[in-house]
Amino acid sequence: MSLRVAVAGAGGTVGRRLTELLLADGHDVLSLTRSPGRAALRGVRGRLVRADFDARAGLARAVEGADALFVATFDPMDPRHDEHLATAALAAGVRHVVKLSALAVTDPGAQDLVTRWQRECEQLWQTSGMTWTFLRARAFMSNCLAWAGAVRAGGPVATLHGYAPNACVDPADVAAVAARALTVPGHAGRAYALTGPAAVSAREQVAQLSGFLRRPLRHEELTEQQALERWSARYPPPLVRALVESAGRQAAGAKASVTEDVLRVTGREPTAFGTWARRHLTVFR
Ligand SMILES: NC(=O)c1ccc[n+]([C@@H]2O[C@H](COP(=O)([O-])OP(=O)(O)OC[C@H]3O[C@@H](n4cnc5c(N)ncnc54)[C@H](OP(=O)(O)O)[C@@H]3O)[C@@H](O)[C@H]2O)c1
Repeated sequence: MSLRVAVAGAGGTVGRRLTELLLADGHDVLSLTRSPGRAALRGVRGRLVRADFDARAGLARAVEGADALFVATFDPMDPRHDEHLATAALAAGVRHVVKLSALAVTDPGAQDLVTRWQRECEQLWQTSGMTWTFLRARAFMSNCLAWAGAVRAGGPVATLHGYAPNACVDPADVAAVAARALTVPGHAGRAYALTGPAAVSAREQVAQLSGFLRRPLRHEELTEQQALERWSARYPPPLVRALVESAGRQAAGAKASVTEDVLRVTGREPTAFGTWARRHLTVFR
């Protein structure tokens, strides 16, 4: 059966892939974006609908007629985004919400800003009056696209706690789980823990990239002070503190365990980092 699905964050890492999957399955996709013109130029597909999560006004019209809603919000400094979307979706008659969250919410030791925000968002959707599915993802493999400039320039790739393992997940696998949860019954009230098939450290990721690119690449360890300085140039202080705390938990081994939920929901083994890296090699060349 063809459904109408609204995708909040349609131009994002997961939303873009999700939109492609839904369209390929014949669903009608409302792709929410702040700028339909810019999104079209960036190749975002679906019916491009103007929507700004900052403002409640107009959001209900943006998701009108949708059977289900995918939510990727990204600003822990502005927790109203989920609240605005929930109010709008309920008013528009949306029945089911699939919310992209983070696996850290299940770790009682995780008390950083981003994790607390994701927990609050989950609570909000649980009491929203709609059915919900939570996709609690470990770090996206695509985060290492941030290294592309350094890799192309010959390195080194500098990270904090580069020896620490992370069971990172391919965002395409997250999108595949989202597509199932949005369009197939049986996922209401479920929270899925989404990881890759194995934990890898940044050092191992750099070594794999080096092998695929057939040239030497070096990993360089940052001190906590150096990481702080780098992140402070890009993010506000509360977010920088959250990143340092999160990295500390990774160093303590809190992000190493793998789960079966990608396989359970999609019927396919989760993508290994090496497979993801080979698919994205042109970016690093
Ligand atoms: N990265 C990770 O490792 C990781 C791991 C686990 C969970 N997560 C979670 O994943 C979520 C982020 O998902 P993502 O990476 O797919 O998103 P993303 O790539 O950050 O993209 C978000 C999209 O939202 C749109 N947007 C930004 N501000 C907006 C606003 N005010 N109103 C409406 N749209 C706006 C932007 O599109 P337009 O410019 O077209 O408006 C952007 O393309 C976060 O909740 C994060 O905590 C991330």
